[in-house]
Amino acid sequence: MTAIEAVDAAAVHEVARLLAPHIRHTPLIPTLSGGSLKLESQQPTGSFKVRGFFAAAHLMKREYVARGLLTVSAGNAALACAYVARSLRVPCRVVMFDTAPALKVEGVRALGAQAVLMPRERLLEWIATRAWEQDPEVFIHPFANDAVITGHSSIVPEILADLPDVERVLVPVGGGGLICGIALGFAALKPDVQVIGVQSDGYPLWQQAFAVNGPPGLTPRTIADGTSAPFDPVMFERLRSLVSEWVLVPEATLRKTVGRLATEVKVVAEGAGALAYAAMLDGRSSARTVAILSGGNIDASLLAELLTE
Ligand SMILES: Cc1ncc(COP(=O)(O)O)c(C=O)c1O
Repeated sequence: MTAIEAVDAAAVHEVARLLAPHIRHTPLIPTLSGGSLKLESQQPTGSFKVRGFFAAAHLMKREYVARGLLTVSAGNAALACAYVARSLRVPCRVVMFDTAPALKVEGVRALGAQAVLMPRERLLEWIATRAWEQDPEVFIHPFANDAVITGHSSIVPEILADLPDVERVLVPVGGGGLICGIALGFAALKPDVQVIGVQSDGYPLWQQAFAVNGPPGLTPRTIADGTSAPFDPVMFERLRSLVSEWVLVPEATLRKTVGRLATEVKVVAEGAGALAYAAMLDGRSSARTVAILSGGNIDASLLAELLTE
């Protein structure tokens, strides 16, 4: 496995080849705003997360995988982990926030995995104490894992194939695995592309972390539940070195953007999935700009609420 510091063009193409039989080359669709949307909501399980989880499971020794897979997740990593485990015919258990959308919890169970729901404080404690080290399954960290991050870099050759002169990519950020993979992929294949991190002002974790040089102690107040990951010191250093530009989207704008995506672009996005498009609409649109629509797993009741607000 390539350590992320050593991800070069060959490593990005290699992981893309490894993943090709298991994931989709998702559509890059032009929008009336001028920029394009990369529809990762069209991946199996409705988000980009299958890239990282297939990469992690396939790069791991077979005897480890046979122990079963375990992850911790706001929802989409759980779905991806369950899907990958099912395709490899191994058991899967996922630890999730007890506030995770019902669609995600039910989806995990429908894929044959066990969902363990915990209140946020207990779950953060579970992570902080690395409780998974006592568990029988092999643990795949949803973002601070080199194979997961390298798996996400497979999105870059797809964007370059469909829009070779891309100049700017907007990426929603939770724990930071997706944007690290994308930043590493572009650094290897087209280093002049600007990679911009996007968060909601309802949970501006990383901008605040850089401001106070450590964990800011925020509680998420956003519909972008996919970006509600806690502070992680390893990702803090990685994001500091890989991402130089950040945008905050006002939560009220984000709520409207989910509705605009449905009515104007005819695409269903969850809150986190709409973040980059919201940032693109706010003066960052050009024919060479791509917004990553990272996921589409939104509860029907929330979607209905946003459509009628
Ligand atoms: C839909 C969606 N977008 C963005 C993210 C953020 O990804 P990361 O935690 O790798 O930054 C997530 C994470 O779960 C997600 O589910």
